[in-house]
Amino acid sequence: MKVLLTESEIQTRVKELGNTISKDFAGKDILLLGILKGSFLFLADLARCIEGSTEIQFLQATSYGASTQSSGHVNLFYDENILFHKKHIIIVEDIIDTGLTLQRLAEELGKKNPLSISICSLLLKKGKTIDSNVTLYHGFEIEDHFVVGYGLDHNEKYRNLRDIFILNHQ
Ligand code: IMP
Ligand code: MG
Repeated sequence: MKVLLTESEIQTRVKELGNTISKDFAGKDILLLGILKGSFLFLADLARCIEGSTEIQFLQATSYGASTQSSGHVNLFYDENILFHKKHIIIVEDIIDTGLTLQRLAEELGKKNPLSISICSLLLKKGKTIDSNVTLYHGFEIEDHFVVGYGLDHNEKYRNLRDIFILNHQ
């Protein structure tokens, strides 16, 4: 596997994202909503770079299974006791590929009267965009590779790697 982004490049960029979010949401109540499982390391690092009142919750979305292609259908699972209204929700995602997962999620959350919905994705595949109703923060724009490491998996493996790699067998 070939390294695409090193641990040090990732950490530098995560700090910058944390500073930007801290400024943009100064004095506001943030709900960081991590999309399991891919965002778990990114959220852990990002949360420690954000100043101010921050609630942390998780949600599971599945669409890929053991494939490297999106199945086109997204399932969402989350705790029904989470209160989303009157909060500034920042969805924390590992990567935006088709954008289908986030589109589905933003629709669902929009019904719950939050003060705002933003997305913070570590990676964004080039040429992909997201519904303009939401603010999008992203760490790195990457070519259309399948990548693993720093939370990202292939068939539940490689999430523990410190760097991000291009998977060579697809
Ligand atoms: P989307 O709905 O097509 O944008 O896909 C979103 C989800 O698919 C991400 O949260 C990842 O979990 C997974 N995914 C998409 N591309 C990759 C990749 O290159 N490596 C690992 N997981 C990926
Ligand atoms: Mg995944």
